[in-house]
Amino acid sequence: MTGDGAPLLETRGMTRKFGGFVAVDNVDFRLRAGARQAIIGPNGAGKTTFINLLTGVLAPSAGQVLLDGVDITQLAQATRVKRGIARTFQINRLFRGLSVLDNVYIAVAERAGVAPRMLRPAGMRRNVLDEAMSIIETLRLSDDAGRRIVELPYGRQRLVEIAIALGLVPRVLLLDEPMAGVPSAEGHIILDAIDRLPSDIGVLIIEHDMDVVFRFAQHITVLVRGAVFAEGTPAEIRVNPDVRAVYLGQEGAHD
Ligand SMILES: Nc1ncnc2c1ncn2[C@@H]1O[C@H](COP(=O)(O)OP(=O)(O)O)[C@@H](O)[C@H]1O
Ligand SMILES: [Mg+2]
Repeated sequence: MTGDGAPLLETRGMTRKFGGFVAVDNVDFRLRAGARQAIIGPNGAGKTTFINLLTGVLAPSAGQVLLDGVDITQLAQATRVKRGIARTFQINRLFRGLSVLDNVYIAVAERAGVAPRMLRPAGMRRNVLDEAMSIIETLRLSDDAGRRIVELPYGRQRLVEIAIALGLVPRVLLLDEPMAGVPSAEGHIILDAIDRLPSDIGVLIIEHDMDVVFRFAQHITVLVRGAVFAEGTPAEIRVNPDVRAVYLGQEGAHD
């Protein structure tokens, strides 16, 4: 983990039960500004539930979420977004008949408190348009800016999800399986985009592709049955025999 001082995002004793089943079990977690971190673990380990607790989709059974040391556990989802916690929107949240630029423009306009109004370049506000185009360039989507979502290959649709999240100007970006469903031929597009995310944003990725995780993350948390099973640098996690036994062994070919 990089940086000094208080963590940007932190959980203390985070726990979520579904009936008698403990999906997230007493998790202490820290993400620093600008950090690149990953959570890995077997299916059903509680990774998505943990993200849902960070974003306020779910309320914890016990424990706290803190942003800059301030307890935000009781804050609603939308308020957390305004404070800077963003996750990627699912593809089905995109306006599929509209262009990439229209989608990103709407996200930026909403965040900036500007009514989107007319979705033609002539009706767009210059500063919002510039910001949307800058995000589109960051993600190397410029050539597709005028194309409708439905016309895009799947991997590029997923990039638009990331673009919309960046339109919120997040301090923390949560990416739950950004490679899921992306054909391997398009995988490099997502990897490249993740590499190009602004360095001041703390990024937490949940991903099954270990090549992506080991390349991206400075710090990895291994979740097993809802609890933190191991933590460390990619080098530490890679050689941890317990982790290999419960998880990496299943993946094979990561020696
Ligand atoms: N709303 C829910 N109600 C009951 N059980 C749930 C709910 N959401 C998740 N679970 C259970 O919690 C466990 C963790 O799920 P999840 O967080 O989706 O795991 P992961 O993302 O690591 O694959 C699973 O056993 C899942 O069935
Ligand atoms: Mg999941």
